[in-house]
Amino acid sequence: MMRKTLLTTGLIFAALSLAHAESIAPKKVSEQLVGIAVDAPLWDKAQASEVTLYPQLTTVSLDLDGQKAMQEGEPLPMTVRALVSDTHLALHMSWPDETLSVAGMDETNRYGDAFAVQFPQRISADLPYIGMGHAGNPAIIHLKRYGQGVAQPMPSNCREEEGALICSRYGAGQKAGSVESVALTLDAPNLNLYNEELAAYQKLQRARVDADYQRTFVAEGFGTTTELRKQNGAFYSSMRYEDGHWNAVLVRSLKDDLVNLDRAVVPVALAAWDGDQAGRDGIKWLSGWTPVVLGEASREAKLMAILNEEPTGDIERGEATAVANCASCHRFGEHRMAMEMMAPDLSWIGGQATLEYIRESILEPHAVVVTGYNQHAHRATPWYNEVEGQLRSTMPAFDFLPESDIEDMVAYFHSLK
Ligand code: HEC
Repeated sequence: MMRKTLLTTGLIFAALSLAHAESIAPKKVSEQLVGIAVDAPLWDKAQASEVTLYPQLTTVSLDLDGQKAMQEGEPLPMTVRALVSDTHLALHMSWPDETLSVAGMDETNRYGDAFAVQFPQRISADLPYIGMGHAGNPAIIHLKRYGQGVAQPMPSNCREEEGALICSRYGAGQKAGSVESVALTLDAPNLNLYNEELAAYQKLQRARVDADYQRTFVAEGFGTTTELRKQNGAFYSSMRYEDGHWNAVLVRSLKDDLVNLDRAVVPVALAAWDGDQAGRDGIKWLSGWTPVVLGEASREAKLMAILNEEPTGDIERGEATAVANCASCHRFGEHRMAMEMMAPDLSWIGGQATLEYIRESILEPHAVVVTGYNQHAHRATPWYNEVEGQLRSTMPAFDFLPESDIEDMVAYFHSLK
């Protein structure tokens, strides 16, 4: 459950975000980074940056709980630290989450908390679509999900009943504690609170949880993910839950067959899933492209200009123009008269898209076509058509509007975050 924590941390964060722009500055170190612990003292050397993740509304799902969680979700502040060696880039991410969620043993309706780190496969000022790339411009995604390893068998003298673990030593029907509490009390100091059977079970649980699910994908848009074999896109990761926060580490080579991060500036986007809020697939929190500044930023002037562009238009006028031109299809902010499923909900677009992307979406809707409408549930309102193998948006181009109207709308949508 992320929301409650956010209401409090959100306020503190609002003050912080004024203090510094969102960029990540890794600390150069000589130490070996693969295998670095979540609480390694080396992290103290790295500068902490705040990156905000926003509910991703632009992909749609049949899962009503998940949709509701996204629609009611609040921005999620993530603290990011980075280290770089001659060969590897390491990221440390910390974010609030009220509950630890582990995928259920044999259940399909419980999800583990997870995070992902996304890089453009080709690093240039022409950024892939933030939602997992777009046709011709792929993104690389490293995903880690907590405790979705292979389910271990129950100890032979124990069984699960209505979510509680029952071991024979206790006598018929006596409950020894819920499975959930076992998952939450993996720490060694708590072991003596339980009997031997429970300790043995905890060991199994730990093995199960340690066998975390981690995968690398290459994608050219939501729903086009291709999973890569282990040796391609290899990365090291771990995550630990403590004091209402997740702390996670991800380490990857600066350079491999997939991507070359040995550059002055590398854009990265971060995602988090809250298992407790039906979080999986597209039901997630997502940041915009954020620069990791590894060298002289001026060497990537064009990319930095895109990432740091400030709006010049008038927000209030932009809102009026947007209501007149866009609200028949899109829902955004307070303006929710459009039919559901006509077009992506733009309520958090300013937190995830660059100004350039918003501008391009208005002037050239076909340039990046956002897929992900639910074909089965809403056949009547597809977001795009396919013409000779090319995706064509059903959104008209607004290139007939005066440039000042466009820039006002860009400023308005940029403010939606
Ligand atoms: C006729 C319906 C319609 C109208 C009117 C319309 N759009 Fe769209 N828009 C869509 C559809 C459908 C998509 C998804 C397909 C695509 O990517 O083009 C979309 C996509 C977008 C996206 C990309 C969303 C994302 O998730 O990245 C943006 C930004 C956008 N529209 C802005 C606007 C703005 C601003 C206006 C008004 C000037 C507008 N749209 C008017 C239908 C519409």
